[in-house]
Amino acid sequence: MARYIGLISGTSMDGIDTALVSIAGDGRLSLDHGRTWPLPEPLQRELHELCQAGGTDELRRMMGLDRALGEALAAAVGAILRDTGVPARAITAIGSHGQTLRHYPEPGVHSTLQVGDPTIIAERTGITTVADFRRRDMAAGGEGAPLAPAFHQFFLGRGPLRRAVLNLGGIANLTLLDTADGLMGFDCGPANTLLDRWTRRHLGTSLDEGGTWAATGKVIPECLDVLLADPYLGRPPPKSTGREYFNLEWLEARLGDALHEQRAADIQATLVALTAQSVARALVRSAKEVEEVLVCGGGVHNPVLMAALEGALPSRRVASMAEAGLDPDYVEAAAFAWLAHRALAGKPGNAPSVTGARHAVVLGAIHPAGVSAQPPGGESSPGG
Ligand SMILES: Nc1ncnc2c1ncn2[C@@H]1O[C@H](COP(=O)(O)OP(=O)(O)O)[C@@H](O)[C@H]1O
Ligand SMILES: [Mg+2]
Repeated sequence: MARYIGLISGTSMDGIDTALVSIAGDGRLSLDHGRTWPLPEPLQRELHELCQAGGTDELRRMMGLDRALGEALAAAVGAILRDTGVPARAITAIGSHGQTLRHYPEPGVHSTLQVGDPTIIAERTGITTVADFRRRDMAAGGEGAPLAPAFHQFFLGRGPLRRAVLNLGGIANLTLLDTADGLMGFDCGPANTLLDRWTRRHLGTSLDEGGTWAATGKVIPECLDVLLADPYLGRPPPKSTGREYFNLEWLEARLGDALHEQRAADIQATLVALTAQSVARALVRSAKEVEEVLVCGGGVHNPVLMAALEGALPSRRVASMAEAGLDPDYVEAAAFAWLAHRALAGKPGNAPSVTGARHAVVLGAIHPAGVSAQPPGGESSPGG
């Protein structure tokens, strides 16, 4: 049995998710421990600012943030080891996704940027750290995202029902298992990122706890139709997106004056419906035969969003990923632990049918553990 730690701070920037997983000799993976660490407020503010273009000397600020987040990630690893009493030497590797600051899969840029310096994680923890998982897939012509579908397929294998996994993070990502075309997966569109931003603007809180505010609003059908007509939502996969696209400026641009003429709670209810409807449409378009949708990510804790989803998918079973034996809050972190395992084994981590890459590739850069006993060149004779 080997143990790995997975780390990710998702689009929502609500915290660092840490997962300690075990992978048995027969390949079976189990989640031993999961915990989310809130991001320190100044770090969170700076991350939010750098996610969108603007301000002075973005490169210098990005470099400072890369380092600060690296320290926070290393501290999260220290904490999970203390929590569980597992010594660092028992961990084969850490898989650290970091925090995406920008993701531009479109031609022209075709690059992605995650911060959270992995050299700091390896240095502070003494554990081999694998990071920068997305760019190799992009180098092979892929979107670099989503990466979780390969893990979903590995973890769930084949079941009695045709299944999909829906991750309701900042963005909604859908994985379609067992389709006629094999494994599929793509970013459907917005989920919590718009709900969180709209809540912050109107209530001043980071999230609409339990969806209670949305529940006081009524869906505005005309606004919902305008939002659902967004070209990204109608585009066929492969596709991936982020908060560079789905943000409050997007909402302003789509709805114009209507955004300010309507009750804010009604807009929130409409945004909940937008997520549910865009997921349902994507499912019907890409995999009508899906019978069960397993939900993970923070959205699983929002009963109003879950009810909207069930309403939009009448003939399908909607359940939490917990039913399949994995805590829905740590699916993504566990995926990066598994991807670290794949990288060390020299095995591919991407699913080309999902990302659109030309071929399967080993993902991630490996930063080895440990302190070298001798400085470089120490073994050879002077001047050698
Ligand atoms: N109790 C809750 N009520 C409503 N929304 C919640 C609740 N818990 C989590 N969420 C939502 O889930 C989000 C975090 O989901 P997460 O899967 O961590 O997303 P990401 O991967 O983008 O970080 C929060 O920002 C919030 O919108
Ligand atoms: Mg999160």
